[in-house]
Amino acid sequence: MSGFIEEAVLQDILNRTNIVEVIGECIPLKKAGRNFKALCPFHREKTPSFVVSVDKQIYHCFGCGAGGNVFGFLMEYERLEFPEVVEQLARRCGVTLPAKRPRDDKAASLAASLYALNELARAFYSSVLFSQQGSRARTYLAGRGITAETAKLFKLGFAPDAWDALIEHARKSNISLGLLEKAGLVVPKETGGFYDRFRNRVIFPIFDVKSSCIGFGARIMDAGTPKYINSPETAVYKKGCTLYGLGAAKDAIKEADRLVLVEGYLDCIIPFQHGIRNIVASLGTALTPDQARLIKRYTSNVVMVYDPDPAGELATIRSLDIFVEEGMQVSVACLPGGYDPDSFVREKGVEALASLIQHAGHLFDYKLKVLAARYNADESEGKAQIAAEMLATIRKFKSAVLRSEYLRRLADRLRVAEGALAQEMAAIKDAPRWTDSEEVSRRAPGAPATEKLLIKLMLEETHLIASLKGRITPQDFQNREIARVVETMFDLVAQGKECETRSLIQHLSQDSLSALVCESAFLPDVSLADKEKILDDCVMRLKKNRLQEGRRHLQDAIRRAEQDGDHDTVERLQHDFIKLIKKGQERT
Ligand code: CTP
Ligand code: MN
Repeated sequence: MSGFIEEAVLQDILNRTNIVEVIGECIPLKKAGRNFKALCPFHREKTPSFVVSVDKQIYHCFGCGAGGNVFGFLMEYERLEFPEVVEQLARRCGVTLPAKRPRDDKAASLAASLYALNELARAFYSSVLFSQQGSRARTYLAGRGITAETAKLFKLGFAPDAWDALIEHARKSNISLGLLEKAGLVVPKETGGFYDRFRNRVIFPIFDVKSSCIGFGARIMDAGTPKYINSPETAVYKKGCTLYGLGAAKDAIKEADRLVLVEGYLDCIIPFQHGIRNIVASLGTALTPDQARLIKRYTSNVVMVYDPDPAGELATIRSLDIFVEEGMQVSVACLPGGYDPDSFVREKGVEALASLIQHAGHLFDYKLKVLAARYNADESEGKAQIAAEMLATIRKFKSAVLRSEYLRRLADRLRVAEGALAQEMAAIKDAPRWTDSEEVSRRAPGAPATEKLLIKLMLEETHLIASLKGRITPQDFQNREIARVVETMFDLVAQGKECETRSLIQHLSQDSLSALVCESAFLPDVSLADKEKILDDCVMRLKKNRLQEGRRHLQDAIRRAEQDGDHDTVERLQHDFIKLIKKGQERT
């Protein structure tokens, strides 16, 4: 799991970080005995079952089974990658990370140059907008209902009506044409040389979440085409990973625990100006899983407000599946025909849009409505079409309860047998999805209590692990996941490494294993006096189970051999059986 970062560094970060402080900055924690409690941020609940342990420096949710150390928490909660979390925590506790490889440095320095150049261009366009040259653009923006204040907030600008205004401006700062090209700000001429990409257009700078300018959209001020010209993808601008307005909206999104997703620049800016601030735009491209995951850093509740035209409908329906696959809750607000969020707010008022958002319909109803308008739900052909399209979405729900609920509703609406739909859904194939099995095994409900208790005791009395190693092997455990945990603990001890809970978690390859370890760690405490005795009991029970299983196995084999009339085998197995029983008697 640790990969490129040295273990000692990770351990150092773990030692210097207090998980209670870190989690406490994300969600409100309440003291409860030696632990802290909270409503679990990873599933919906009314009474707190999320526990953070100061002593163990881990968290565990008794409701959904989530659990891990501080790295795992931040990865899950902030939706960050492991290296990002390490960086963040290292900075926080003052640990210096080893320098990155030179290639990364080079990429980082190109990115830094592009950010700087984009910022220079952005400042230029915006100064032009508020200069004499920008008067027509200011009139255009005012005509579209954008106040000067909003224009400043979104840092709008204007690109002069010239082939080389930006080129000339950049020349003053000694910026190479090569870099301007890498930033997508200029276009090479066939005859050699370059010209400004954006000319005589209103500029909409695009920012990342850290408010660095990464690209631009530029709108023509009349009915000409193309309506928008956008930055190409660059080393810092990845369209499928960007959402317009997220920087401005993120606090409001967290507060509302909901995000309003629209298509266009104006669809984002105008409602924002009128007070709907948890709003971002996907900029006309089909939503990507990366964008959905970006949203999930702030909320998992999305209301889509796309244009009610066929293109908008298709984009909405495609996006619904992406949200469902990411396990997010999505609903759809339907605008009356001919409106987009911008024109709707300007004509009907922001309250009208807020109310549509408030009453946004469930994705199931939305998709069914769209399909019913396209296919004839009264004919069998149409029913089959609708069923096929609905099933493609329904099967993406991770919850079996939801899947069956929607199957039932679909069967109702189409007036077909539920069993037929279920059959149809089962027949849809795609690549096996590891997340499904991951989700299921996450709670490891099958792990026997004895085995979990043994893990807990091993974690608490790490000095006993070495001696246990002579008495039990990972194969003694019935639960395969626990066996892997024990194996890891043995390895760590053999290498003379730390083995308390938070360090152990760092060495487990799967989230489900970490969750299992944390679940075990939070079993009710055993008094110090009883620890060794209980540990011995656990070991004994483990052995007994193993013997029982072996006996059952042998008995089955003997029965089969008897049925086959294979007397030699029967005799050999019976011999084994007696040996096994004797072995069991020695131990007890
Ligand atoms: N878009 C684009 N290039 C185009 C048309 C659209 O990049 N030629 C993107 C823009 O990001 C635009 C979004 O798709 O904001 C939605 O397009 P559309 O609904 O046509 O434009 P609006 O945002 O409504 O723009 P306006 O209200 O200014 O007409
Ligand atoms: Mn519009």
